[in-house]
Amino acid sequence: MSKNSEQGMNEFALLDPEEGLPLFYPFVAPEAKEELLDTLNSRWIGQGPKVELFEKKFSEILGSKNKFIATGSGTDSLHLAYLLAGIKAGDEVITPVFTCTATNLPLLYEGATPVFTDIDPETLNINFNDIEHRITKKTKAIVAVDYGGIPAKYDDLLEICKKYNLKLIADCAQSIGSKYKNLSACEYADFTTYSFQAIKTITTSDGGMLSIKDPNLVEKAKRLRWFGIDRSSKQKGNWENDIKELGYKYQMTDFAACLGLSALNHLPILIKKRRDLLKTYVENIKHDDVEVLQKDNDPDYYVCPWLCTLIVKKNRFALMKKLRKFSVESAQVHYRNDRYSIFGGRVKDLPNMDLLEDKYLVLPLHHKVEISDCLKICRIINEGW
Ligand SMILES: Cc1ncc(COP(=O)(O)O)c(C=O)c1O
Repeated sequence: MSKNSEQGMNEFALLDPEEGLPLFYPFVAPEAKEELLDTLNSRWIGQGPKVELFEKKFSEILGSKNKFIATGSGTDSLHLAYLLAGIKAGDEVITPVFTCTATNLPLLYEGATPVFTDIDPETLNINFNDIEHRITKKTKAIVAVDYGGIPAKYDDLLEICKKYNLKLIADCAQSIGSKYKNLSACEYADFTTYSFQAIKTITTSDGGMLSIKDPNLVEKAKRLRWFGIDRSSKQKGNWENDIKELGYKYQMTDFAACLGLSALNHLPILIKKRRDLLKTYVENIKHDDVEVLQKDNDPDYYVCPWLCTLIVKKNRFALMKKLRKFSVESAQVHYRNDRYSIFGGRVKDLPNMDLLEDKYLVLPLHHKVEISDCLKICRIINEGW
């Protein structure tokens, strides 16, 4: 009897890695332990020099002149981005209906309204053609999400933001390393956010990063990250005992930065592995009822995949069941956000989302998956379900 059935879990409960191929697996670099020990033996275990080093290394890897500030999570970074973009109660923000809820929940923290926008069926990203008619006098910003690692069409989005004087916020939680027309999202967007949550391409166990285009906002971002206090001035002995802005405790710790610093050394290899796995799925899945979502056949896109998503034209659950029979985990992972009551109920005019909501399925794609595993999964799919 499998552990899952012993524990009374249902057929799609998380798969124990000992029993098959799980959908996600965190990457911890071999040198992380040494890095952590170094921090344990030092004075700083909270936000200290390693956080600064991680910010520097991360910006160097992206080759960006923007300022980067590390945070406690991708969600923290998004909230800071919304605050810095000046989003307030009563404002509207154009945002994709299909994403992790973390993209949209921080808009509710501020009393702003997420205006859900349809998906592009080729990428499941925000549908550029569905944006303009949703813009009103209350619209303050557009949020784009690079679903599964496929970048949004940032040049078009930037153009529309300029036309209507809106801020562009890129949620790149799933797309570290990806580029659109040879540029990272942070070169287009006013604010770009990243996540280092446990199962992301690189992880700090929990953590995030915020890239800021306008250098004048960097000090404010740092204050908002730390209770509204100018921490570096305080550390220099200038302690003016006043807080003028509502700040948060959104900093990254040196502990987390240790994991991030050691993982960054492996980022190129991790990305290559993910790209090879995706290519294997694309080239070997040959079933009329399945398409693999990808864009690497399009020169505008450089995709660093976090997910391999299938569009399954018929009976997705039967395919999930069959994969599970062969000890392969698959799942939807994300859901249309208007299914959650907190966002105010289902939106009616999202035809692509309606069409695809029962058709997408995510397959394992991480450093523990071998090409032979991918080929096995392709065979299972090609034999039908
Ligand atoms: C698209 C997207 N945005 C935001 C987040 C939130 O990141 P975090 O979990 O680090 O807060 C995630 C992942 O969790 C995500 O996938």
